[in-house]
Amino acid sequence: TSILLLHGPNLSQLGARDPAQYGTDTLEDVVAVSRAEAEAAGARLEAEQFEAEGALVSRVHAARTDGTGAVLINAGALTHYSIALRDALDLLEVPVVEVHLSNVHAREPFRQHSVIAAVCDGSIVGFGTAGYPLAVRAALALHDRHVA
Ligand code: DQA
Repeated sequence: TSILLLHGPNLSQLGARDPAQYGTDTLEDVVAVSRAEAEAAGARLEAEQFEAEGALVSRVHAARTDGTGAVLINAGALTHYSIALRDALDLLEVPVVEVHLSNVHAREPFRQHSVIAAVCDGSIVGFGTAGYPLAVRAALALHDRHVA
């Protein structure tokens, strides 16, 4: 199985960005723990980060035909307002797991709603970097159910 791990705007700045919310791990660290979990389960993981909404939308489109078996996405702030991203994710037939480092439900009101949640299979939020291996496991479990 090939897992595609997508990150949205500002997640390139992890490590420097409000450590009280996001911890001190870098995006590279987050990708490394995710890949380790995937590889331990016999899967592969490809990771990409986008600052721009359109580029992220295009990458989601490409995932329909490039052999991607499951998608993990931390869309950053796009989570809260990008109907374009939502519509793109809705086109995917493979499992999609939403991830957030911080507990968005305990933060500002504008972070408490996700416009993509309803087109994802489930969400893992609030566990920092530790949420990513959980999301990998969830995606692989959904994938196996999907193809079984
Ligand atoms: C985030 C939460 C979003 O509200 C924020 O805009 C981010 C990071 C998280 O992982 O906790 O960029 O997605």
